[in-house]
Amino acid sequence: MFSFFSKDQTTGEVAEHQLDEANIPAHIAIIMDGNGRWAQQRHLPRIAGHKQGMNTVKTVAKAASHLGVKVLTLYAFSTENWKRPNAEVNYLMKLPVDFFGTFVPDLIKNNIRVKVMGYTDQLPAATQKAVADAIADTRHCTGMVLNFALNYGGRAELVTAVQHVAQQVQSGQLDPAEIDETMLDRQLMTAGLGELRDPDLLIRTSGEKRLSNFMLWQVAYSEFVFVQEHWPDFDQTALETAIYEYQQRHRRYGGLTPDTEK
Ligand code: FPP
Repeated sequence: MFSFFSKDQTTGEVAEHQLDEANIPAHIAIIMDGNGRWAQQRHLPRIAGHKQGMNTVKTVAKAASHLGVKVLTLYAFSTENWKRPNAEVNYLMKLPVDFFGTFVPDLIKNNIRVKVMGYTDQLPAATQKAVADAIADTRHCTGMVLNFALNYGGRAELVTAVQHVAQQVQSGQLDPAEIDETMLDRQLMTAGLGELRDPDLLIRTSGEKRLSNFMLWQVAYSEFVFVQEHWPDFDQTALETAIYEYQQRHRRYGGLTPDTEK
């Protein structure tokens, strides 16, 4: 059992909770929203929010790893984020260079392995190099996987998967009747995560309640937790509070829980 103290967002009351160590979500995915609003509230440029958001990534990655999370997937840049002003996109593209440039030794110390999913070949060369180096430098780590969704989009991912399957059908290697969920799973960007490919818990910060094209296939049975904090304010306690909420849920995967079966 892990103990932690949380503050009620409406009453401000502080309460002690226990986390069940045996029921830590193996795969947590996070939509890190609210960097811009965090900065605006402080009369800072939006990029200041992204910089602070990067520091939050460091804190939350270490906290998740210590709690026993096996995969932490973070939505860092979507296929739609290119629509933002050039200066902001350029800054976001430099963040991985900064992040991995300073944090890889800490990741190795915490036995955290870096993976990336997304159309990384479309990223600037320096960003691609930072990502490739981080993947190579942490390849030997056997603990948590820190999986960045970088230039990722759920619909684009499904389109690419369908194209691969159609090519196999066209070349006569595959009978359409053989296409099943396992086969599609193998074509998705999460295939390398094996049994851990689907998030158990999806967290979105900053009060918005939408998926924004994130892991559309993989979240079919994930538990969703929406929190008010902007991403730069999210911390270990906020993570523990979200996991606590997850632990109060009854996952049924379309079936029944034992007490409702009677
Ligand atoms: C959404 O907030 C945030 C993003 C689009 C970028 C997320 C990136 C980070 C947190 C840094 C990632 C770090 C690494 C190492 C890659 P928003 O800008 O949409 O916020 P808003 O809705 O308040 O405007």
